[in-house]
Amino acid sequence: MIEVRGLTHRYGGGESGADSGDAGGSVSDGDAGGSVSDGDAGGSTALREVSLRIPDGEFLVIAGANGSGKSTLVRQFNGLLTPDEGEVLVDGTPVGDDLVAARTRVGMVFQEPRDCFVAATVARDVAFGPENLGLPRDEIDRRVERALAAVNMAGRGDERIDRLSGGEQERVAVAGALAMEPSHLVLDEPFTGLDEPARESVLARLIELNRGGTGVVVVTHDLRDVLEHADRLVVLADGEVAVDVPPAAAVDALGDLPVRRPERC
Ligand SMILES: Nc1ncnc2c1ncn2[C@@H]1O[C@H](COP(=O)(O)OP(=O)(O)OP(=O)(O)O)[C@@H](O)[C@H]1O
Ligand SMILES: [Mg+2]
Repeated sequence: MIEVRGLTHRYGGGESGADSGDAGGSVSDGDAGGSVSDGDAGGSTALREVSLRIPDGEFLVIAGANGSGKSTLVRQFNGLLTPDEGEVLVDGTPVGDDLVAARTRVGMVFQEPRDCFVAATVARDVAFGPENLGLPRDEIDRRVERALAAVNMAGRGDERIDRLSGGEQERVAVAGALAMEPSHLVLDEPFTGLDEPARESVLARLIELNRGGTGVVVVTHDLRDVLEHADRLVVLADGEVAVDVPPAAAVDALGDLPVRRPERC
């Protein structure tokens, strides 16, 4: 379980500043991206008192306009960012109290996986996380094999990452997170830059993983085909939770929010 309690995050400035409260409330203002910047001296409030509980095994979709705070939120789940106010607990323990536990339980896949690879070949990259846990070699090999199989990359461990397609690289990034055997897999815009077959392949892997019991949190602008597999949709607007509904209620709840609609809801 990931539990977010009253999370507020500000960038820059350092001071809480005079938060202008409702001044930034509408999502439709600033249609170029709905920046959350609210004019507090030298900084911007990216999240405002966000609370959220993500049970184990849940498939959660987080949507929202550019700048609505999605990345800022999920980066707190394993301590990559620390909140100014509030806290995040993973299985009841505040993330900051045990970063290793949080990073073992919550696997994170970033928007640009190619910036995050640490090795030249597939298997060596996927092994990196378990190696850092200090696991024995045979356990590392077992995890790498399982993780690659889970993303349909079995037997391709010796291939060079820079020769893979975008979709394959995304799947290697997912395998790298899976090798930590996390209870939640969090993916920030996993479909960006992928063509349709690659997008479908990544999504299919995520659905399978979720059926196998892994919690999946997908941050995306693009709700096509995703919502029907999700347990829940959260939409952030201006650093706040604007929508928190089961997918069946999503179309009504989306209103004028700037996300790409599911086609089949
Ligand atoms: N490193 C940073 N320094 C200063 N401000 C930042 C930084 N990162 C994000 N912000 C600001 O915080 C707000 C939330 O940004 P965030 O990246 O979390 O949004 P997002 O919903 O992930 O957007 P996108 O859809 O573009 O990825 C925005 O106003 C953004 O400009
Ligand atoms: Mg983002």
